Amino acid sequence: MKKRTFLKLMSATTVTVLVAGGVYQAHGKGVFSTGKGPAYEPWHTWRTDEPEGSLALVRAAILAANPHNTQPWLFQVTESQIELYADISRHLGTMDPYFREMYIGLGCAIENMILAASANGYQYQLTLGSGTLTDLPPNAKLKRVATLKLSSGPVVIPPLYDAIPNRHTNRAVYDSNRSVESEVLETFQALFQSESDLKLFLFTSEAARHRFAAGTVRATEQIVADADMIHDSGRWFRPTWQELQKHRSGVHIDASGMTAMNRALAKVSPPISEETAHQAWIDATKITLASTPVLGLISVRDLYDQSQSLKAGQLWQRMHLWATTQGLAAQPINQLPEMVDRELQLGEEPRTAQFLAQLSGDPLWKPTFAFRLGYPTLEGLVSARRPVEDVVV
Ligand SMILES: Cc1cc2nc3c(=O)[nH]c(=O)nc-3n(C[C@H](O)[C@H](O)[C@H](O)COP(=O)(O)O)c2cc1C
Repeated sequence: MKKRTFLKLMSATTVTVLVAGGVYQAHGKGVFSTGKGPAYEPWHTWRTDEPEGSLALVRAAILAANPHNTQPWLFQVTESQIELYADISRHLGTMDPYFREMYIGLGCAIENMILAASANGYQYQLTLGSGTLTDLPPNAKLKRVATLKLSSGPVVIPPLYDAIPNRHTNRAVYDSNRSVESEVLETFQALFQSESDLKLFLFTSEAARHRFAAGTVRATEQIVADADMIHDSGRWFRPTWQELQKHRSGVHIDASGMTAMNRALAKVSPPISEETAHQAWIDATKITLASTPVLGLISVRDLYDQSQSLKAGQLWQRMHLWATTQGLAAQPINQLPEMVDRELQLGEEPRTAQFLAQLSGDPLWKPTFAFRLGYPTLEGLVSARRPVEDVVV
């Protein structure tokens, strides 16, 4: 064999081996497995052909938004009632010291359950838990949060029902050249009209969005600098596809809002340091907020009231489902309310609460949930869910 031919053959073989090795490594790291695997099955099996009674409502409930994808819920199911419990073991610790976010997530699940009740031929009567969020016996593992009484009724498919499996938190940059139509914002405001304990604040002017964004970036920096908070948050980050499939909860790079190329690179690259990851979160917060045409706050009269927190969750879920039907993207960005809780827990001056009161211009309303809304530049990707069998007691 001539030397040139031999070298050519060698380099072709080397390239093949390298590419094959890279593809093998990429496979192992889940580069080609976005949205695949058992952790994502509940999104595909939520509407079964088999008649299974009220369990169908739980299949819809578990697809709801929830903090850090902790899925802090358990359901006791009979044909005449579903009891919803908070699973205290899935608490976010110092990121949510008063269970406020946990209850908002449970409210999101309630909203999906209600939509599925009508769609599955049930009439329902909902009773929400009352009292303060922290009203828990010592070492409690479960707390009953709501009861949904069921009786048979006509099958009515609510307009938002079909959006349940299409709603995903979208953490990518939004289209900064496209504003959100005023009719859309009016529809959101209308959702709040019948709720005397909840108020929606929307920020669309450049100056207000800038203030909101600067406050959120500051709150993000404070969380990163707080060793307990960043540790309690990081516990729910799943570094590999395999970890995600094992736990079927928590947040993973696939739903991070990066482009497909950057996600693939991040998966095959050596792990980055914690400092780099935290700085990346701060930078992403800056960049994504700067691209966002609408920022918002859901506020309540009493930040630590159970039923107000549940209702805030119900309204967020409804807003996000409706936004999905309109081709809009949305992301909760709750660092500011999280810092309000943390300053209270540490007995510090309530600087973040004061900032939020100035931002909304109305100190009587307490922001419990912050979000961003706009037209997407990238699709929001699916997140993991535990199977229904794991959350029914
Ligand atoms: C109370 C609450 C707070 C949340 N806070 C944030 C947040 O600050 N940043 C974020 O990216 N997502 C946040 N989320 C979104 C969750 O991380 C998301 O719902 C969860 O990972 C499941 O993903 P999905 O919404 O795409 O189904 C929050 C959701 C809830 C209900």
